[in-house]
Amino acid sequence: MSEPLLSTHGLKAFYGDFQALFGVDFEIGSGEVVALIGAHGAGKSTFLKSVMGAIKVGADMVKLQGKPSGGLPPHLMVSNGVAIVPEGRRLFAGMSVEDNLRVAIDHKAGGSDTWTLDRIYKLFPILKDKRRDPVQSLSGGQQQMVSIGRALLNEPKVLLCDEISLGLAPKVIGEIYEAIPSISAAGTAIVLVEQDVGLAKKASDRLYCMLEGKVTLTGNSTDVSREEISAAYFGAGHAVA
Ligand SMILES: Nc1ncnc2c1ncn2[C@@H]1O[C@H](COP(=O)(O)OP(=O)(O)OP(=O)(O)O)[C@@H](O)[C@H]1O
Ligand SMILES: [Mg+2]
Repeated sequence: MSEPLLSTHGLKAFYGDFQALFGVDFEIGSGEVVALIGAHGAGKSTFLKSVMGAIKVGADMVKLQGKPSGGLPPHLMVSNGVAIVPEGRRLFAGMSVEDNLRVAIDHKAGGSDTWTLDRIYKLFPILKDKRRDPVQSLSGGQQQMVSIGRALLNEPKVLLCDEISLGLAPKVIGEIYEAIPSISAAGTAIVLVEQDVGLAKKASDRLYCMLEGKVTLTGNSTDVSREEISAAYFGAGHAVA
């Protein structure tokens, strides 16, 4: 790979005295889809929050196109091309679907226009039908589409997705995951934090598995075996589930 778009180097993160990440090395290139899997508490969300600047980390621990960017505040990470679909979606209740999307357009730093409202509506046609409805009247899956749309309207080079399938019905998970190839085809790299290992493997080019704040496995998603994933996910000595 030429210079990665986003990389981390010995990334460590703390909550007060509690250390949650122990030297995570990670990289993703333009247009790549990389899955990040791991059990509850493995450090997946902490990794995304550290990359976004929501948790302060050392400058050299996060690089954007080679440039030290660790510890920059989240709004600067967004204007530098990193956007997050956060755990729990965090939409503005009381506002319409379209107004939730427009928030991202209003705050855009300028630059590229890859993602427009029209394009988001092409990606998720149901949002066009519901554009005037209050966002809280939408199903969980449709709200997740709004959250993804809002993040894309920031024109990210890298889109970080924190468990976008969580709590959703299989049909709507399918609809959301069907959008992933169109997003990466537009050149946007995607980090998919996902609990569903099968889904993660299918949707990604490469994957990383984390356990207790460390990367325990990385490889091409088609190459890693179920046994390797199981050992990396649960720790050595655990039987294959
Ligand atoms: N705000 C916080 N304060 C203190 N410790 C935290 C905080 N958030 C997370 N942790 C701890 O950091 C570790 C990593 O948590 P994290 O939320 O990153 O895991 P995760 O892999 O995203 O898990 P999940 O699959 O449950 O979302 C866990 O031990 C967790 O208890
Ligand atoms: Mg999490």
